[in-house]
Amino acid sequence: MPRPINILFVSSEARPLIKTGGLADVSSSLPAALRDLGLDCRLLLPGYPSVLERCIALTPVANIAAPADTPVQLLLGQMPDTHVPVYVLDAPHAFQRPGGPYQDASGTEHPDNAERFALLSRIAAQLCDPHSALAKQTHWHPDCLHCNDWQTGLAPAYLHYAGRPIPSLTTIHNLAFQGVYDPDILPRLGLPAESFAIHGLEYYGSIAFLKAGLFYSDWITTVSPTYALEIQAEPLGMGMQGLLQQRSHQLTGILNGINTADWNPSSDLHLAHNYTYRGMAGKRRSKTALQTELGLNKDAAAPLFGIVSRLTHQKGLDWVVQAVDGILAQGGQLAILGTGEPELEVRFKQLAQQHPHSVAAFIGYDEGRSHRIEAGADIFLMPSRFEPCGLNQMYSQRYGTLPLVRTTGGLADSVTDGKDGFSFAGDTAHALWLTIERALAIYHDPKAWRRMQQTAMRKDMSWEHSAREYVALYTQLIAATHSS
Ligand code: ADP
Ligand code: GLC
Repeated sequence: MPRPINILFVSSEARPLIKTGGLADVSSSLPAALRDLGLDCRLLLPGYPSVLERCIALTPVANIAAPADTPVQLLLGQMPDTHVPVYVLDAPHAFQRPGGPYQDASGTEHPDNAERFALLSRIAAQLCDPHSALAKQTHWHPDCLHCNDWQTGLAPAYLHYAGRPIPSLTTIHNLAFQGVYDPDILPRLGLPAESFAIHGLEYYGSIAFLKAGLFYSDWITTVSPTYALEIQAEPLGMGMQGLLQQRSHQLTGILNGINTADWNPSSDLHLAHNYTYRGMAGKRRSKTALQTELGLNKDAAAPLFGIVSRLTHQKGLDWVVQAVDGILAQGGQLAILGTGEPELEVRFKQLAQQHPHSVAAFIGYDEGRSHRIEAGADIFLMPSRFEPCGLNQMYSQRYGTLPLVRTTGGLADSVTDGKDGFSFAGDTAHALWLTIERALAIYHDPKAWRRMQQTAMRKDMSWEHSAREYVALYTQLIAATHSS
């Protein structure tokens, strides 16, 4: 029997080890889906404290030559839930520190992020180069390197200068984060001076890690077909549109799937009441339980709007702030869970103080509560200005909570207006409001509402289909490398 295809999937986040957003969800569920299809997909993650703590059965597999006083080791362990193998880059000077993966506890970027993620990228490339001292210690040889976002952007550049032993693929999860640094850092990255060029990692006089990924990798994917088109033009190309246009024949949009085991209303352990599309009593109870948990009026008829989100400009939540009076005037309620920009945090907190029985705002990160909002709300608001894919709208559909979204990126590809959710194309608070009114009209028609809920809940949003698209792509890239 031929051996399986080996994929090294490098990311800076993977749930449940470390997470700031959807990248972490995808980095855990896609590798698991690939393994279900028979591939030997392994993760490479930075050794943040939570990764070292939560990863199971960690064992050293290699020592890495790094600056003298900074011991660096590669460990191999497993994901706690799926048992996907994980290489952990244990580099205490780079990754063992308080705060989040990119910022300290006060929200300031770590000053050495360029060096930290260059190290991650460099180790990824070394693992893929059979001639490297590192690969000789690991005894496992990837056939293709799958990179994700700017944090891993330099890996295809390192691989290029190692003679391109295997193909690489870069997935854009969000083009807004590009990893842009001063060119002065180039000598510290260990890349040749010639790489600082338009045909390289130079980006308007700076170095952009993401640009390196987009330029040097053999293929580019992004997380929805619509976003793949949007990023080839202004404004969503965010400066990279020229390169993306040039590479459009090597750019594919593959819609993310969701982890249907974690996000399953019939077995979700975060809920006191489970349910399926066949019997929705558990959803009604989940709504009352959520209203109780959040101190909202226990009014079964009040349309309850939910939001779980990073509170950033991207997500269009300033339009929601403007719609709150209207929602309340229609007897509605609003539950928000999120962290992010201070102005939005303050605004939502103020609204909750002004309307304690109709608006609840939790500034913080709380996985259990995110599940309870998905289950207890009637309508999920996600009016993003742009959204590469978005996962919450799909979680909502699975929980019978109809998403109300802006038609952009993955939201356009996963929500069909009037069928399994609601959508609008404009970019004003008024456009959002008109769609809220439309959704409320259907909410007050229980039969029509139930029909839409059932359609949403019965959709197949699993990884199966999209994971096969990645397999086809890896197979094509590997074949092309062998024939060249
Ligand atoms: P993005 O990656 O742009 O933030 P996604 O919709 O792809 O958007 O993914 C966001 C993920 O982060 C979802 O799993 C969502 O439930 C989770 N999330 C966001 N904010 C919070 C929060 N405050 N508490 C718990 N989970 C959150
Ligand atoms: C990014 C995007 C989001 C996407 C996620 C996973 O964080 O903002 O739209 O769902 O990555 O691909």
